[in-house]
This record gives sequence, C-alpha cells and structure tokens, in this order.
Amino acid sequence: MSLISFASASSSVFITPTVRSFTSRRSNYTVMSAVRSESPSTCPVLTKFQRDCATPKPFLRKVADAISDDMRAGLAVQGGGDLDMILTFVDALPSGKEEGLFYALDLGGTNFRVRSVELGGKEKRVVAAESEQLSIPHELMIGTSEQLFGFIASKLADFVAKEKPGQFPLEQGRKREIGFTFSFPVYQTSIDSGTLIKWTKGFHVSGMEGKNVVACLNEAMEAHGLDMRVSALVNDGVGTLAGARYWDEDVMVGVILGTGTNACYVEQKSAIPKLQNKSSSGTTVINTEWGGFSKILPRTIFDQEMDKESLNPGEHLYEKMISGMYLGEIVRRVLLQMCKTSDLFGQFVPVKLSSPFALRTEDLCKMQEDNTDDLMSVGSFLYNFLEVEANLKARRRVVEVCDTVVKRGGRLAGAGIVAILEKIENETKRMASGQRTVVAIDGALYEKYPQYRRYMQDSLVELLGHDLASHVVIKHTKDVSGLGAALLAATNSIY
Ligand code: BGC
Repeated sequence: MSLISFASASSSVFITPTVRSFTSRRSNYTVMSAVRSESPSTCPVLTKFQRDCATPKPFLRKVADAISDDMRAGLAVQGGGDLDMILTFVDALPSGKEEGLFYALDLGGTNFRVRSVELGGKEKRVVAAESEQLSIPHELMIGTSEQLFGFIASKLADFVAKEKPGQFPLEQGRKREIGFTFSFPVYQTSIDSGTLIKWTKGFHVSGMEGKNVVACLNEAMEAHGLDMRVSALVNDGVGTLAGARYWDEDVMVGVILGTGTNACYVEQKSAIPKLQNKSSSGTTVINTEWGGFSKILPRTIFDQEMDKESLNPGEHLYEKMISGMYLGEIVRRVLLQMCKTSDLFGQFVPVKLSSPFALRTEDLCKMQEDNTDDLMSVGSFLYNFLEVEANLKARRRVVEVCDTVVKRGGRLAGAGIVAILEKIENETKRMASGQRTVVAIDGALYEKYPQYRRYMQDSLVELLGHDLASHVVIKHTKDVSGLGAALLAATNSIY
C-alpha cells in the first residue's frame, strides 16, 4: 500500500493534507474527457447502493445525536446503551515527570508488539526505546487462551533475553513492569485487571470471555520464568490518548481508525452517574467502545450479509461500517453482485470475487490513488487480482463502489468524533472559551487512506460548525499507544 504518511503531523480541521480527492478528480474529468461523459451510475445495483449509503448532513446529525444519547445512557448504568462507556481507572494522564524503565505489550490485531521505554523525566523525556513487532499466526487468533498467551509470553521472553546482560539491572524483589495494551472490549475492574467482554476483529479465542486477561498473561509469563508484572491494562485508544497527552496537554480524545475502531476521552467524574464514588471530582478517561453503536446506521443488504457471516454477528455494527477490516469486504460483496446481475465484466464472474476478505481495504486505497484519465492502474490491479480485462466503464464503476463505501465510513467516523467533542464541550465549555482541543488519531486506515481522512474531516466541520471547529486540532499520532501504555505503567508503578 502506498504510504501517504504524515506521521506526527498535526493539522487543524481546516488544513487538510495535500491530497486530491477522487470526487474532485472525477468532476474535472467530466469536463476533460468525452469517454467519461456517460454516467458511471447507470448500473441498478450501484445506483441503489449509493442511495442506501448516502450520509447527508441532516442524517449525520441524527447519527451524532444518537451516539451522544448512547454515551449518556452508558455513563448512567453499565449496559445502558450500545456504547459500553468503560471506566478505565486512568484518572491521571502522563505529566512528563515519569522516570525509569517500563515495558509495553500490545495485542490487538494481526500483529503484536513488545517494547521497552526508558523515561527520563520532564527534561529528557524518552531516553531510549526498543521495539519488536511480530505477526500473530491466524490459528492462534481462533485457538485457546493458553496457546495465545503462551505465544505472547515466549516472544516477550525472547525480547528480554536480547537485552545486554546488566543493561537494566533490577533491584532485589522488584519485577519489570508492563503496560499491557489489550485492544478488545474489557470490563475493567482496576487499573491492572479486567475481564474480556467479547472478541472483535476476527479473534475468537475459546473460553476467554469473562476471564481476567491480566491473570492469563501473568500465568503465561510465570510459566516462561519471566520476572514481569502488569501494572496497567489499557485499551489502545486509552494508550493513544495517554501517549499523545505526554507531548501535548490539550489532547482530550484518542481515536483508533485501523483494523478496528474505538474512541476514548477525558470525562468529568461528576458527569458519570454510574461511578460508585458519587462525591468524585476531577476527571477520568472513558473507553467508549463506540464500535458497538448500532442505531440508525445506513446498513445495506451487503452490510447485513457480511455481519451475518462474521464471527461476531449482530455486534460492533458501527465498526463494521467504518473500520479497515471491513471496507474492502463490503466492496467485494457489491462487486460480486454487480457481476452477477449487471454484467460488470460482461458475462465473466471472477472466481476470486467469491472469496471472503480477498479484497483488502488497502486495495481500495491503491485503486483510488489512480488519477490517470483512463484509470490504467485500476485496470492493471483488476487484471492481476481478478484476471479480468476491465473496460473503462467497468473500471470507473469499481472506483465508484470504493468511493461510496469509503465516503460513508469516513463521514460516519466524523459524526462519532463530533458526538464526543460535543459531550466534552457540554461539560467544560472549553472550545467556546477559545481553548484548543486536540483529537489524537492513530490507525492504518486513517494514516494511509487520504480520501477517508478527507471525508471524515469534512463531516466534522459540517456538523461542528466553523466556530467550534476552529478550536479543534486533529493530530495524527502514529504508534503512541505503546508509549502511552508504558507511561501508564509508570504512573501506576507499585514500587
Ligand atoms: C475493539 C476496541 C479497540 C478497537 C481498535 C475494537 O474492535 O473493540 O477495544 O480499541 O478495536 O483496536
């Protein structure tokens, strides 16, 4: 996938990255090219799909309001709404003063990552960091918890074994402390324990739901003779918020737009009725688990069928519309239907189009990068991928489907961010008083798909209005969630 990266770049919502959206290119072409004068949408399946996926402003407003309602309901009582609104026990975000050596372990997708971070306090900040990324074999994603955590512990042991002898001497009786980023819905019972609510993103490890994930890791670490303990269990959204806050104290929201999606934010304790301690003051971080939102979404027959065949049917419906794991799959399903009923490629129905998840979101991005008049690289992608020689009309239709799915996803994600910003504003009035409010975003979908980013930012401004939006900064914070987890291990060190 081509990287259109602006790692650590920050931009106000008005400053969009220097990429051209497919939509604007297309309108240029309508003028320039006679071949393109025929509407690409004269295909009934595509026309209906586009209509069903539409997200005009009034509709997006309803989505943002419905997300807000579910946020409030989830803050009132556990299970009150679609959004879990999980209490994370992170009341103190990093200040910069953290010192010492801490580890971070990141499990949440097809890769897992282990790192060590040496923190040097306010002046020196991150003195040294080492990291290693490994992919999780697919059979472990659907195996047993012993297999999964055994694998993680063994890789962690390999990582620690690579440290030079005496490099990080441990004081007597002291264990190495880990921030464990576990990017699935977890009902947190303290900063260092929590039980898995359910798996998402294609994971389905048996017998783990309801189990304490930290206990699973601790057992496996012990079995591998590792002298380590988990000091903080954090979601990747919380890690992103914490890691970004370390460098910028105006960060109020951490969003993940990658394989899966989520958002975490700083909430006033007084606005959380379900908090046991009613007299609480100050703030705490809430993990919204917004992927679980399900109301009034523009779900087409293709979304419904994909959901039905997924490992978690009926769950995480918002995630299934806006995150990287699913966008390619939705497009594949639409294209297959277009082949069968609208002669997309003549009479030919490519075999590969019948294979679930064969088309990846990064393939859509690659096709949308093609700004040639005759969509040559779309043509060669389709040739290599589907063994079909697609004519220009077919190539244009394929790109239309990609754009429809990505536009809907980006705009719905924008509505979610608006719901959170408006909740923060409701409690604090910080934007109205001119205070800068930063949304830190990480994830490959956001990082690598310019059209998605553009659609998301456009909907954000449309809904928030220019006045409020002028105080919002969207910051791409690449890979800070591991740093955030290590920082939270430091903040919650037992030593
Ligand atoms: C999980 C979240 C996670 C998100 C991004 C979702 O599927 O439910 O906990 O933060 O993916 O990784």
